[in-house]
Amino acid sequence: MKGQDWYQADAVAEEYDDVRFSGGGSLIDGREKEAVLSALGPMDDGHRVLEVACGTGRFTTMLADRGADIVGIDISREMLEQGRAKAADAGLSDTVEFVRGDASRLPFPDDHFDSVVAMRFFHLMDEPLEFMRELRRVSRDQVFFDTFTDRSLRVLYTWLLPMGSRLYSERQVASLLGGADLTLAGEAHDFVVPYGFYRAIPGVIATPFRVLDELVGNTVPGDYVASVSYWDARIPDQSE
Ligand SMILES: C[S@@+](CC[C@H](N)C(=O)[O-])C[C@H]1O[C@@H](n2cnc3c(N)ncnc32)[C@H](O)[C@@H]1O
Repeated sequence: MKGQDWYQADAVAEEYDDVRFSGGGSLIDGREKEAVLSALGPMDDGHRVLEVACGTGRFTTMLADRGADIVGIDISREMLEQGRAKAADAGLSDTVEFVRGDASRLPFPDDHFDSVVAMRFFHLMDEPLEFMRELRRVSRDQVFFDTFTDRSLRVLYTWLLPMGSRLYSERQVASLLGGADLTLAGEAHDFVVPYGFYRAIPGVIATPFRVLDELVGNTVPGDYVASVSYWDARIPDQSE
């Protein structure tokens, strides 16, 4: 799998945050964090969260800071090193646990977490269903994830990306959820102009552009061609 190997290079891990989330990319970081926080809601102390493919720990550290009892798992030692450094900088080393492991074989018992989060993960997966089933297995209540969409401008360049970038239709996501016995509780579609554009421009230009993007995105056609979707899936109530 290309995505798995790509993130194991030191240089890729060291530059990961700077390349994606500085300048105009900070708007992407902010939007993704808002999506995660709004889906997970207020974090009671002890809310157990697993972040799958946690990478440099952007969400792991944020959620730990909000009171979550959180574990971040990733297959890349190099990305995890960045995550540990980030948690240490935030004074959260004792609160966050980072584990090296493969998302297709999570080292946790069934129903172990309240919420499982997987951001920027499914675009790397050739066979997403086995991963979704595994995420669902270890969650008691919620699986939150994002996908890049197949009717956006991303189709123009996605095939060029070295780490691979699978695009999803809504039908494919519905089938993924059905195959893993998950139900959809919420969805949001955003970024008419794909992430790649924002990260290539300075923040000062990106900010007004983002306002325009949101205006267009709030229309029916804009929503239709949005390049990223955020999905809030739930475990069906077994007692019903
Ligand atoms: C695009 S990065 C996303 C990192 C983080 N979720 C974020 O949004 O910043 C994808 C991550 O998936 C990890 N990854 C790829 N395949 C994996 C697998 N089979 N199991 C666990 N992690 C994996 C990579 O090492 C990398 O850190």
